[in-house]
Amino acid sequence: MTLNRKSFVVAALAAAALVATAPQAFAQAGKIKVGLMLPYTGTFAALGNAIENGFRLYVTEQGGKLGGREIEFVKVDDESDPAKATDNVNKLIKRDNVDVLVGTVHSGVAMAMAKAAKDSGTMLIVPNAGADAVTGPFCASHIFRSSFSNWQPGYAMGEVVAKKGHKKVVTITWKYAAGDESVGGFKESFTKSGGQIVKELSLPFPGVEFQALLTEIASLKPDAVYTFFAGGGAVKFVKDYAAAGLKKSIPLYGAGFLTDGTLEAQGADADGLLTSLHYGDSLENAKDKSFRLAYAKAYKLQPDVYAVQGYDAAQMLGIGLAATKGDVKNKAAFAAALEKARIDSPRGAFTLGKNHNPVQDIYLRQVVGKENKVIGVASKNLSDPGRGCKM
Ligand code: BEZ
Repeated sequence: MTLNRKSFVVAALAAAALVATAPQAFAQAGKIKVGLMLPYTGTFAALGNAIENGFRLYVTEQGGKLGGREIEFVKVDDESDPAKATDNVNKLIKRDNVDVLVGTVHSGVAMAMAKAAKDSGTMLIVPNAGADAVTGPFCASHIFRSSFSNWQPGYAMGEVVAKKGHKKVVTITWKYAAGDESVGGFKESFTKSGGQIVKELSLPFPGVEFQALLTEIASLKPDAVYTFFAGGGAVKFVKDYAAAGLKKSIPLYGAGFLTDGTLEAQGADADGLLTSLHYGDSLENAKDKSFRLAYAKAYKLQPDVYAVQGYDAAQMLGIGLAATKGDVKNKAAFAAALEKARIDSPRGAFTLGKNHNPVQDIYLRQVVGKENKVIGVASKNLSDPGRGCKM
């Protein structure tokens, strides 16, 4: 058969179009590249590892695929350093061409990630950092959080401390978004209930020189202290508070990060502490039981709140990808699926608010031995106010 000139040109154009579209079609059916940006060094290293463990556990349970597509990981250690955050996230977006960003722990780093995700249109799931801005002014249809806002545990604890009859409270935390916002949530509900914050103490992140501040607390003699610390800093703070003799005289309350994933190292110095969080060690729901068994079997470790948040970040990615048949670029369908989902979490099922932050129970927990025992619900179905979010 011979081709005339016109049909030859048509055939050549069709062949060229096929070549041009083939790589895209292949990528759609191929692997999904997940960029894990987490701290693997520094005071939050254990938190980053637990998040990755939880995320991988869910993916493994699904046979390594979500929405029919195999999951491939690229990792960056963000060192919980906001100064390096923009460069780090751009490595994942521009160099590695990831389809989805998952990270991080530190609120300051997460804000840089949210900005880069917003500017580039890259899907982002935040598996810890509570920065209020991520689901506030930076909110977007392709940005989600599987954890909490800093405001949530603080707000819940303010009500608890007021109900206990404490009137004058000193707060102490690291001076950065997570500390400021956790104290902000506490202050909002505590003062609404008639309480007074007599002094707000802080030190730079990730400092652990607490001695002068503990001496100041002793001289101020408040009814109680509220605190936000996490990871290695939380271990040191709880030990120093007890060593200074304050544990016996001034009750210490905290956002639950104070005692989560830290009890082995804190030992008896943590005994009896009351904290507020969206997870605890004795929830006894079916999902939590199976999750804890699977996690312990896979990693020879007990899970903590960070592992749960990583697991749920993977569940959320799975829900979005199932709805879009693996097409991460179909952002509207991805968001619609998550906005109507009930996520079957070990913490208890939760939904996402309009700003894509979990609407969830905040538990009241007490340290008993090596457990954060759930002793009640500090705030039922608490949604973040999403101040400044326009979506
Ligand atoms: C934060 O920076 O948002 C954060 C870090 C550790 C635990 C909880 C919150």
